[in-house]
Amino acid sequence: MADANAAEPTRRDFIYIATGAAGAVGVALAAWPFIDQMNPTGSVLALSSIEVDLAPVQPGQQIVVTWRSHPLFVRRRTPKEIAESRAVPVSALLDPLARNANLAEDAPATDQNRETKSEWLILVGVCTHLGCTPTAFEGNYGGWLCHCHGSQYDVAGRVRRGPAPRNLDVPKYTFLSDTRVKVG
Ligand code: FES
Repeated sequence: MADANAAEPTRRDFIYIATGAAGAVGVALAAWPFIDQMNPTGSVLALSSIEVDLAPVQPGQQIVVTWRSHPLFVRRRTPKEIAESRAVPVSALLDPLARNANLAEDAPATDQNRETKSEWLILVGVCTHLGCTPTAFEGNYGGWLCHCHGSQYDVAGRVRRGPAPRNLDVPKYTFLSDTRVKVG
């Protein structure tokens, strides 16, 4: 579908950060702020937790960091996105479970059970169909579109159109301050 958000260039800001020796990759626009995101801990990095500095991320932006060899989406949602997401009843969802590692396994997939803190959303960026990486700010639901087979996720990372069977996973996290979160 045509991107209804095309007139909002800030929503397309992506900053890809890689851990370890690879350093930062894919920073495609020089105007984007450099973000010193993480403190890799050597050879155990792939199994460890990471800390993410949230301070440079503006509303409507997403950064992608590598965690345990997978992309991790860290998105700061706008008030409009939050309001729209909270208006979606669980009964309208393909997967009614929150899939949030911080909550009980049977927690419902309300927006509040998906968000990390206020406007922050942290998701494992692996499509629950066959493992592709969905693309943010695409699809009909304002969240992510998986180009492999067309699955769509909303702004809470909940699957709204298959073939993906499950919502994107919310990992364990701990907020260390208002602007720093530990994942894992
Ligand atoms: S891997 Fe995402 S839709 Fe198939």
